[in-house]
Amino acid sequence: MSCDNFCGSYTFSIKVYGCQMNVCDGDRLRSAMNSLGWRESPDPADSDVAIFVTCSIRDKAEQKVISELGRFRPLWEKNRRPRIALLGCMAQRTGESIARKFPWVQVIAGPRHLGVVPEAIASSMTDDRVRFHLDSDPRELEDLECLPQTRGNRHKAYVTIAHGCDQFCSYCIVPYVRGRFRSRAPEGITDEIGRLIEDGVVEITLLGQNVNSYGLDFEGRLRGYRFARLLSDAAAIPGLKRLRFTTSHPIDFSDDILDVMSRRPNICPSINLPVQSGSDRVLREMNRKYTRGDYLGAVEKIRSALPGLGLTTDLIVGFPGETEEDFLDSVSLLERVRFDLVHSAAYSPREGTPAAARRDQVPAGERARRLAAINGLQSDISRQINKSLEGETCHVLLDEAAPRGEGLLQGRTETDKVVLVRAPNEMTGTIRPVLITGSSPWCLEGRLL
Ligand code: SAH
Ligand code: SF4
Ligand code: F3S
Repeated sequence: MSCDNFCGSYTFSIKVYGCQMNVCDGDRLRSAMNSLGWRESPDPADSDVAIFVTCSIRDKAEQKVISELGRFRPLWEKNRRPRIALLGCMAQRTGESIARKFPWVQVIAGPRHLGVVPEAIASSMTDDRVRFHLDSDPRELEDLECLPQTRGNRHKAYVTIAHGCDQFCSYCIVPYVRGRFRSRAPEGITDEIGRLIEDGVVEITLLGQNVNSYGLDFEGRLRGYRFARLLSDAAAIPGLKRLRFTTSHPIDFSDDILDVMSRRPNICPSINLPVQSGSDRVLREMNRKYTRGDYLGAVEKIRSALPGLGLTTDLIVGFPGETEEDFLDSVSLLERVRFDLVHSAAYSPREGTPAAARRDQVPAGERARRLAAINGLQSDISRQINKSLEGETCHVLLDEAAPRGEGLLQGRTETDKVVLVRAPNEMTGTIRPVLITGSSPWCLEGRLL
């Protein structure tokens, strides 16, 4: 692309919804737009292009974006700006109907086409033709080879290790919008980590919908190169202070991963292991491929290999056909495992997935009641766990100013708990010993030692 035509004088805003994969895509896109000479503006109404990186995981995530898009009508009718670039999972799922409804959406690209987006956005300034970049085959991939240099957080970065998902859990839209599972070659990943460390990054999180499956699709030269090996190679990169990964699938949390984690002190003892339900019947209908017993066995094995582990999970309540008894199985699983944190959600039917077609949907009011009950229970558990940490010393990566409170920095323990600490701004980006002095279900308070 010639820079004479599109560079230098335009502004963009960017808003990211959804999971860390979108945060990572948003950071790479920001960096690519900056290198074209575009400037970021905080205000979508005052930018030439407003970029939305969207999520389809639940209906609410999509409705938020639809109502945002509607608000641009008067500006478009008056000024013909901003143009909108709709990216991410929702663009892949509903892009064509959105283009018909909102003519100010001029670029529509699914998550596997991020590589063509900077040029599509730049060239869209010259005419009113809508540019579509959606999968015609879920294996297509036009990735954006760009280091996320302009990050939401200077000290932390995400690195995608695999695209897509082949698990097809019966409630989930991800395999339809993110396409087939494909691992990135290890050299590209370790090279990116090395360059991010040179750029000042202290903590890297490896990303995939199911990181344990990393490498299963490799053939030839890379056959047998699996997640444990990647973890070990990444942890050995000079200068990397902290390494994390998400998300793990309970079916495949192999001993070699635990072995690498216990040998490498810079791999944080923190795991998100989504359970989704505590009932065997529901797990089967969700197509999760493990039982409650398998899950509890995995937790036991992981906890005995990694004492002091921070363990979190994802849980859905009100899956179609979930009875009170099934729900109580989820309750008892939370009581038994005592997770540090539970990402809970009421089931949201996603059109095109097998669970959405079922006739035995749980009424919305009942789903909400179960969600509130789960959240109440977990907040008690998290409160007790966090209280028990008072008086302990933790190593905290102070990574940004706290959202509230003058002179307070926010950071994370190795186990991924949020800590608020009174500390000078110059300490951001450093790891410090902190004495825990207070707690709530959601965060800890501490004092620098
Ligand atoms: N790959 C990860 C999670 C991806 S989606 C895994 O296997 O667990 C993130 C979370 O959103 C899921 O763990 C699930 O708890 C939730 N989720 C996915 N589809 C949902 C739906 N239809 N309704 C409600 N929550 C959903
Ligand atoms: Fe969705 Fe299941 Fe894949 Fe996770 S593993 S992204 S829940 S289909
Ligand atoms: Fe949402 Fe897509 Fe992530 S649906 S949760 S942004 S993979």
